[in-house]
Amino acid sequence: MFNSVSITDQIYWVGINDRRTALFENLWPLDHGVAYNSYLIVDEKIALVDTVDGGQTSEYLGKIKQIIGPDRKVDYLIVNHMEPDHSGTMQSIVELYPDIKIVGNPKTFDMIQNFYGITENHYAVKEGDIIDLGTHKLKFYMTPMVHWPETMMAYEETNQILFSGDAFGSFGALDGGIFNDEVDMHFFEDEMRRYYSNIVGKYGATVQSALKKLGSLEIKTICATHGPIWRNDISTVVSLYDKWSKYEAEEGVVIVYGTMYGNTGKMAETIGRTLSEEGIKNIKIYDASKTHASFILRDIWKYKGLIIGSCAYNTAMFPPVQSLTDKLLHVGLKNRILGIFGTYSWNGGGVSNLMKFAEAIKLPVVTEPVEAKCAACGNDIEGCMAMAKEMVKKLREQA
Ligand code: FEO
Repeated sequence: MFNSVSITDQIYWVGINDRRTALFENLWPLDHGVAYNSYLIVDEKIALVDTVDGGQTSEYLGKIKQIIGPDRKVDYLIVNHMEPDHSGTMQSIVELYPDIKIVGNPKTFDMIQNFYGITENHYAVKEGDIIDLGTHKLKFYMTPMVHWPETMMAYEETNQILFSGDAFGSFGALDGGIFNDEVDMHFFEDEMRRYYSNIVGKYGATVQSALKKLGSLEIKTICATHGPIWRNDISTVVSLYDKWSKYEAEEGVVIVYGTMYGNTGKMAETIGRTLSEEGIKNIKIYDASKTHASFILRDIWKYKGLIIGSCAYNTAMFPPVQSLTDKLLHVGLKNRILGIFGTYSWNGGGVSNLMKFAEAIKLPVVTEPVEAKCAACGNDIEGCMAMAKEMVKKLREQA
């Protein structure tokens, strides 16, 4: 007996929950797991929309066979996205259903050949093409770089369901609840933003193009490849994606610092306290050595203010702060107000390199940086307080 879930009387969630893998893409912590969603449409023809990671193949195939029985075959495999967390079971599906038509675009087929050596039964679709399954009709939209070059989406016209690939997806296993109205959406909104900022965030411009392309569709349900299925509040999830891909942020400040012996950390505490006294409610302070960058990036994507501190380390930034700033440059963070502080120690390198980072990422710096020699003294504390106050002024001016 396998758990599959009906979305309509002919469309099923046949996804898999992964609570075993520690790091998604071998990079991003999965403290609460992740779901690989796949969908089965059972009509005169049967279509499978994406597959799952290869780790739980027998359960996945069992779900499909349980629904369609031993005699029917899957006619189409829709490959909206080729990253192996969704294509990892493709070879098993092709072995089970050797006549299956694999639906994709030229970039998909190039990857299928190079990942899996599958060269036959390719069924190419282009923008606006429709596959007619009987009652259900799948219309295809090319959405490149959301977040790989081959990515596309399928819109099921009869039930107005968008199969969106990674777009609108989130980290977090589906612990019983499958639909957005069955789960804690505070948790999933955070995990969705962590997924967006770390996995998709570099591609804001192409996400915007995709949203514009899909803007005229009536969408009743969004079936992404991760996270809950949205069967209501569609405008909420679309507006979140719109906001994130435009790098829009709300009032609040992330303070992140690197410190060896606590002196740079104490400066962060002063900045945080001053922000609070000035009326900022949303303040997140992170020690970059302790908290994985994916969670810090999640909050940086939410709040307009970003204050980064670093001690000096062999005339460079403290390595965890260096790593975080590299990530921020990689994803091309925009539209934030930056503050910089740190400690000089014996030859500097933390603050001076943070200033180089500010120049490279082209974000305005709220005040001159505050750099204590070793432990912050009176002037340094005053500098931290002044930077926090100026940050609040700028946040209010730009609200
Ligand atoms: Fe969920 Fe881009 O893979």
